[in-house]
Amino acid sequence: MKGEKEQREVWISEQIRYVGVDDRQIDLFESQYIVPEGVSYNSYLILDERVALMDTVDARKTGEWLENVKGQLGERKPDYLVISHMEPDHSGSIAAAAAAYPEMKLVGNAKTFSMLAQFFDLDLEGRKVEVSEGECLPLGSHTLQFFMAPMVHWPEVMVAYEQSEKVLFSADGFGKFGALDAKKDWTCEARRYYFNIVGKYGAQVQMLLKKADGLEIEKICPLHGPILTENLSYYIDKYRTWSSYCPEERGVLVAYASIHGHTAQAAREFAEMLREAGEEKVAVADLSRSDVAEALEDAFRYDAMVLASSTYDAGLFPPMAAFLERLRSKNYQKRTVALIENGTWAPAAARLMAQSLESAKEVRILEPRVTIRSSLNDTVRKELRELALAVFGR
Ligand code: FEO
Repeated sequence: MKGEKEQREVWISEQIRYVGVDDRQIDLFESQYIVPEGVSYNSYLILDERVALMDTVDARKTGEWLENVKGQLGERKPDYLVISHMEPDHSGSIAAAAAAYPEMKLVGNAKTFSMLAQFFDLDLEGRKVEVSEGECLPLGSHTLQFFMAPMVHWPEVMVAYEQSEKVLFSADGFGKFGALDAKKDWTCEARRYYFNIVGKYGAQVQMLLKKADGLEIEKICPLHGPILTENLSYYIDKYRTWSSYCPEERGVLVAYASIHGHTAQAAREFAEMLREAGEEKVAVADLSRSDVAEALEDAFRYDAMVLASSTYDAGLFPPMAAFLERLRSKNYQKRTVALIENGTWAPAAARLMAQSLESAKEVRILEPRVTIRSSLNDTVRKELRELALAVFGR
């Protein structure tokens, strides 16, 4: 018999249990995102006449996960493994699960099974249950209904809605960085997760939200982060805003790429000028040193961005070039941008930053663009003050 505390932690309801794992040892999620508070790989069990196991976990945690599953199953065996997403942070233990439970059938869509064959050499003769849009899988008093969610965040993704308890198993949707007991609040780390992981696919997220509109949802069980049980409209509204690419709030990100510190000084002074002008929310990011994923998050959070870059090899200083490429790949749009460049003999950064943003929809570049020749002086400071007023009055 489980202790009360343990029961609280794993019981989503009497018949739906959490069997996921925290990974606090991982250095970089997807080999690129810092996760100071780790990440959780969520997995669930639905215990009914038939038992459904909802997704597996990263291969880093197979043993611990199988123990969790066994702990909740007791003497029972899962009838189904529902595979909502084939990215290895969730599919990494499929082969181990298929071997541990040889009678268990695997539930996915056509794309799931073609990806499964690419990742694993499994004999699935008689073990495949292929589902399509709207199809149901009865488990007893519980019924799972499947909805395809292509590109949220891979093409094979599907979500499952459990009809009797009104639970949405939302795949990566509504996920966040951080282990389950992480301190950082949902909005901050879910936003960083959303824009960096799913941000490119706003239109597809909107399509999924439309499908969710037709469902009465009481709980959301994502593949990362906490189970959402209250005030669901808050989370859904955030997803509506983020996926529309509209700014979440008024504010400015000042992102700089500086070689020897002069551009950094200009950016920091500029941020202060913005605050003096009355701007309440100003975030500053050193693109060489700070978490670029967080800078990208702030670029999407706020309605304005100021880029300050040194010129380097007649081009952009690489940290700025890389940041602009990230913004482009995540569909940065619908915002106001101001540019500050630095160059000792042939400044070109402002022109190149503007060029890089040319293909972004509804991005307005403010004038004047400010050029620093090596270091700040009173003339440049005056131009920066004018630019700060233009940004504040946007
Ligand atoms: Fe959490 Fe797209 O995997």
